Amino acid sequence: MNQPQPAHTTHTAGRTRVLTGAKPTADLHVGNYFGAIRPAVEASHDTNKEVILMCVDWHGLTDKAKMLEPGKQTSGLLATYLTMGFSLEKNMCIVQSEIPQILEIAWYLSCVSAVGLLERAHAFKDAVANGKEPTAGLFNYPILMAADIVTFDAQVVPVGKDQAQHLEYASDMVRYFNNAVGHPVLFEPKPQIQETPLLIGTDGERKMSKSYGNHLPLFAPKKEIEKRCKEIKTDSKGLDDPKDPESCAVFQILKSFGSEDSVVYMEERLRKGTGYGYGHAKKDLFDEHERVFGSKREQYEHYLNSPREVAQLLTPCHERARHVAATVRQRVRDALGLGIL
Ligand code: TYM
Repeated sequence: MNQPQPAHTTHTAGRTRVLTGAKPTADLHVGNYFGAIRPAVEASHDTNKEVILMCVDWHGLTDKAKMLEPGKQTSGLLATYLTMGFSLEKNMCIVQSEIPQILEIAWYLSCVSAVGLLERAHAFKDAVANGKEPTAGLFNYPILMAADIVTFDAQVVPVGKDQAQHLEYASDMVRYFNNAVGHPVLFEPKPQIQETPLLIGTDGERKMSKSYGNHLPLFAPKKEIEKRCKEIKTDSKGLDDPKDPESCAVFQILKSFGSEDSVVYMEERLRKGTGYGYGHAKKDLFDEHERVFGSKREQYEHYLNSPREVAQLLTPCHERARHVAATVRQRVRDALGLGIL
């Protein structure tokens, strides 16, 4: 067996490699913004970090009903990140299916992962519990996600709380693999799980999610955003009653993207109550949404309708990413004694 390359060879000196991913969707909501987009955009401007932001379109296929969606949804995701200011300079914004090495590495990881481990994965268990017939793609979802991470020697992986188990699995798989080959070949990623709870949805009950239909989109038409803000569920406290901001979904949603001033303003008014009802809070939420996202709607539409321009912008990212992935793939194959021809 060949000796593996030193594990840190693909890192850029002085920069921590941060990798995060999101499934393609054209309907990104403020939960995604809060949990994934804003942290990635901020990290992309940090000169000590090298961020790889991946649109995980293969993951978008694990539900066969969505087979035809990823292409158009990918454009929405990329347009959103570019509009919100993800810096391409020295970082990489990439599409998973453009990097074939990920799938090869996923296979190696699948050969060290027990079926029992995958059977305990939340998403798989939920699908079974809800009477769905899970695909093998869904079953293998955690392996593909671990492959996304290790193919790029990612050191830190920031995600929302719902992804904690996937990251535990990724660490487990790295250890199984390194033990199997007898020396460290893959990097073990450090999870960076957001401490704040997942953002609540407009129903005031469950986490904000497109699949629950309780989401507040980022770039939908103005009228729809206004309607969604008005629909947010609240308790029945009256105009002059003091209200608890912590249990108010309108306030929680505002906190996820609003300026400090707008947050302090609403918090004080809700607590006092006098003359400030939920209707006022919803109107203030809508105004702040228009200020933060509405003002960028045109830019978003531009990217969405300019696939060539976006592809050109991302070409250097994919070239660099393929280079890293090829290096790691070679290291893994060497460790396994593959590729003798
Ligand atoms: P996905 O596409 O479901 O979500 C992308 C990110 O958004 C976070 N998120 C939220 N955060 C706060 N409040 C919410 N209501 C909310 N909804 C979503 C998620 O925690 C996530 O960080 N399996 C991953 C995608 C993935 C990935 C990876 C992530 C594939 N490969 C490699 C990191 C590294 C997923 O389904 O994310």
